[in-house]
Amino acid sequence: MATIIAPSILSADFANLADELKKVEDAGAEYIHIDVMDGTFVPEITIGAGVVKSLRKVSNLFFDVHLMVEHPETQIKSFADAGADLITFHVEAAKHSHRILQQIHELGCKAGVALNPGTSLSMAEELVEDADLILIMTVNPGYAGQKFIESQLGKIHMLYHMIDEMETECDIQVDGGINPETSVLVREAGANILVAGSAIFGAADIAQAIKDIRGKEILHHHHDEDEE
Ligand code: DX5
Ligand code: ZN
Repeated sequence: MATIIAPSILSADFANLADELKKVEDAGAEYIHIDVMDGTFVPEITIGAGVVKSLRKVSNLFFDVHLMVEHPETQIKSFADAGADLITFHVEAAKHSHRILQQIHELGCKAGVALNPGTSLSMAEELVEDADLILIMTVNPGYAGQKFIESQLGKIHMLYHMIDEMETECDIQVDGGINPETSVLVREAGANILVAGSAIFGAADIAQAIKDIRGKEILHHHHDEDEE
């Protein structure tokens, strides 16, 4: 599966968002990862649906909305109406995760489920079949520029095999501390959508940074191919 790069808006210049989106699109990114924080699920407050709606008019990028909010079910419709292509919510913030997936799909968007580093993969097991994407957080959500948490590699690998064994299709996204070095580790473990904030917007040459994070294609073996 080809790797998709999703620059995180959190590290962009908030005074020039239209230009920043154009910059990463011209540099080869497929997605823009939009970090929505409510000051409760995580300490900071960032972007609301109004900003997403304005950005929709000036960008053709795939809008990947990462909701780091309590009561995500109350926010789905505004972000779908604002032009989100994918809406991802945290299982830790949801009482009826599966219903939220249905809600997102009914509004015509792709639906993702995010897991904090301290959350077991089992929390996603019953959702994999109906989700378009599982987001494995490789930092604790809240801030850009944090250090990659290596212990999440095993979870990514387990998820890769879970999806393979279920014979379903589901993207594996990672978010937090991704740079050209950690990119290799997460892609080897099975991730195919890579979010990166500081490593892209903080780079002198954004196109080069995206290229370095995308790296060389890694070929995975499927279970039955492994057996002799
Ligand atoms: C963290 C956000 C991330 C963040 C990643 O809560 O979900 O998307 O912007 O930033 P880096 O790539 O700098 O770790
Ligand atoms: Zn994010």
